[in-house]
Amino acid sequence: MDNRPIGIFDSGVGGLTVFSELIKALPNEDMIYLGDTKQFPYGNKSKDTIIELTKRNTEFLIKKDVKAVVIACGTATSQALDSVCDIYNVPVIGIIKPTVTSLNNEKPKRVGVMATTGTIRSKTWQTEIKKYMPDTEIINQACPLLAQMAEEGWIDNDVARLTIREYVKVFKERPVEKLILGCTHYPLFMKTIEEELGTGTEIIDTGKKVGNYLKEYLKNEQKEANRKKQANYEFFLTDMESQFLNVAKNILQRDIEIKKARMHI
Ligand code: DGL
Repeated sequence: MDNRPIGIFDSGVGGLTVFSELIKALPNEDMIYLGDTKQFPYGNKSKDTIIELTKRNTEFLIKKDVKAVVIACGTATSQALDSVCDIYNVPVIGIIKPTVTSLNNEKPKRVGVMATTGTIRSKTWQTEIKKYMPDTEIINQACPLLAQMAEEGWIDNDVARLTIREYVKVFKERPVEKLILGCTHYPLFMKTIEEELGTGTEIIDTGKKVGNYLKEYLKNEQKEANRKKQANYEFFLTDMESQFLNVAKNILQRDIEIKKARMHI
C-alpha cells in the first residue's frame, strides 16, 4: 500500500487526455499534473532539450513525493524515457510500451502512427513495435500543427478539420488496421479524425493503455492507495498565460485550480 500521489507531466493540455483515463482506471489515487506551458511545444525541439526538460519535470514531481511518474507526452517518451528511467528511485512510465504491448496479442499487419515531428524523427514507435511484431508494417505521419491548435482549443472548427483531412490522407491511400495517436494532444481531435478517416480503422488513444498498465503495475508492486476518501488532484503550470484552464474545463468537465510551478529553464 502506498498513498503517495502519482505525478504526470506533458508540455501542456495534451497530458490531460492521459490524466482523464488515469482517474477512471485508478479512482482512489491522488495525482499531481504538471503542464510545461512555458516550454511548449516540445514537438519541434532537439533530443537534448527534451531530455533536459524531462529530467527537470521528473525531479519537480519527485520533490512532491510522488510514487510514480507518468510521462504523458509522446515526444518526451520517445526521446527521453531511456535516459531517465534508471536514474531515479521512482518508476517512470511512458506512453509507448503500454500501448505497444497491448497490441501484441492482435499482431496487426499494418499500423499507422500520427505524432509530433520529434517523435516521428526518433523512430521509437517503429523500434518498439518491431521488437514485438517484426512483421508489422508501420506508416508514420508527422502532424506538427495539431498540438498547437489543441492548446488554443481549436479542436472541432473548420481549420482543425481541413488540417486533419490533410494529415490522414496517407492512411486513406494505404489503410491501416490500427492508428496510434502518438501525441497525447491528438485524442482531443478524436471525433474529427474518426470522421475524416471513415470506418475500418481502430484509433488508439494511448491514455487508456497507460491507465490499464499503471493499474496492473501498482497492483503487482502492492503500491495501490488504500484510502476511502475522495482522491485529490493538483495542477501546476510553468507559465500561467495560456488557454489551459478553458481547454482543461472542456476535457475534464469540471473546474480546476492551477498553481504556478517554480523552476528554472
Ligand atoms: N503532448 C505532446 C506529445 O505527446 C507534446 C506536443 C508538443 O508539445 O509539441 O508529443
